[in-house]
Amino acid sequence: MERRVAASPETVKKFIGLGAAVAVEAGAGLASGIADADYAAAGAEVGARASVLSGAGIVLGVQAPEPASLAGAAPGARVVAMHAPAANPDRAKAYAAAGYEALAMELMPRITRAQSMDVLSSQSNLSGYKAVLDAAAEYNRAFPMMMTAAGTVSAAKVFIMGVGVAGLQAIATARRLGAQVSATDVRSATKEQILSLGAKPIFVEAVKGIEGEGSGGYATEMSDEYKAAQAQLVSAHIAKQDIVITTALIPGRAAPRLVSDAQIATMRPGSVLIDLAVEAGGNVEGAVAGEIVVKHGVKIVGHRNVPSRLAADASLLYARNLFNFLSAFWDKDTQAPVLPDDDEIVKGVRLTLDGKAVHPMLEPVLGGA
Ligand code: NAI
Repeated sequence: MERRVAASPETVKKFIGLGAAVAVEAGAGLASGIADADYAAAGAEVGARASVLSGAGIVLGVQAPEPASLAGAAPGARVVAMHAPAANPDRAKAYAAAGYEALAMELMPRITRAQSMDVLSSQSNLSGYKAVLDAAAEYNRAFPMMMTAAGTVSAAKVFIMGVGVAGLQAIATARRLGAQVSATDVRSATKEQILSLGAKPIFVEAVKGIEGEGSGGYATEMSDEYKAAQAQLVSAHIAKQDIVITTALIPGRAAPRLVSDAQIATMRPGSVLIDLAVEAGGNVEGAVAGEIVVKHGVKIVGHRNVPSRLAADASLLYARNLFNFLSAFWDKDTQAPVLPDDDEIVKGVRLTLDGKAVHPMLEPVLGGA
C-alpha cells in the first residue's frame, strides 16, 4: 500500500500563496499522519475524489493513477507524480490518449537547479536510514559493542553495497548505532565519502571502476572483467559480515546482481541481507519483493516501497519537491506554471503533451504516437 501523500499543509499554504486554489481528497494524508482538518486549516477544500478533481488543472500524486480515474479533471490537466514509464509504457500511452500532460518527477535531471526537486534523492535518503533499522529489527544480536559484567557483546559488522544517496545514509545510520561499517561502489569518487563517514572502503583495485561523476552521477553496467573481480572481492568479505545492505541501481536497466546464493551460504546463520534494489530486479540472489526469505539460515529482506515505511517524513519531503518544481515555473499573471519546451528540467520530466508522447524514453514503445 502507498502510505505517502503528495501535498502537506505547508505546501498547500504555499500554493495558495501563489494564487492557486487547492483541493485535497478526504483521507489522503491519514497514513502520513496528516488529518483532513490540517489541510482544511491550511486553506484547502477537502472532499471526495470526484469533487476535488472537478476542473483541476494540476493533479499531484505519489504513484501516478490510471488516467481513467482522473475523469473530471480539466482537459490537458498536468499530472505531477512518479509515472515509472519504463515499467508502465501502456499507462503513459493512455495519458497521451486522454490528453493529459504527464510529468514524471523521478526523471528529474541531476543538475544543481533541480536539486530541491529531486524526489529520488529525498526518498532514497530515508530508505537508506530505514534499511538499517529494518536490519536491526531482523537481527537477533546487538549493533554496538557492549562491555558488561557478564561479558562482551561484539559490534555488528555491516557492509553497504552501493554508496549513492541511500548507501551514504545507511553508512551514517549504522555508524550511529555503533556497528563496524564497510562499503563498496563502482564509482571511485565514493571512496572519500565512505572514509569521511568513518567506514572502511572495500574496492576492486585490479580493474578500473568509474572515475569522476559518471553520467549525471549514475553508474553504468560494468565489464565482465570488473564483475569477476568484484565477485571475488565480495566473496572474501561477505563471509565475515553480519548485515549486508545493497542499494545498487543502474538507471534504465535491471539492478546489478551483487550477492550470489553461494556467497550467502558462507555467511553466519542469523545474518541479515536487506535488498533495497529488490523492485528493480534485486542485487541479492533469492530476494523476493515484499517478502522476508530465509536461505542458509540468513534472512533476505525485500521490502517494497521502503520510503512509504517512513510515510510522514517521506511525504513532507516529496511534497516540497513537487512544490519546488511547480513554483520555479510559476507565472504570476496566469497563476499557473509555464513549462517551456526547451527547458532542461521540462524536457527531463515531461512524458506526454497535447495528445502525444514526447519523451525519448517512450519512443521505442510508442513511436512518438
Ligand atoms: P543510484 O540509486 O542510481 O545507485 C546507487 C549506487 O549504486 C550508486 O552509487 C551506484 O554507483 C552504485 N552501483 C551501481 N552499480 C553498482 C555495482 N555493480 N556495484 C556496486 N555499486 C554499484 O544512485 P543515487 O543514489 O541516485 O546517486 C548517484 C550519484 O548521484 C551520487 O553521487 C549522488 O551524490 C549524485 N546525485 C547528484 C544530484 C545532483 O547533482 N542534483 C542529486 C542526487 C544525487
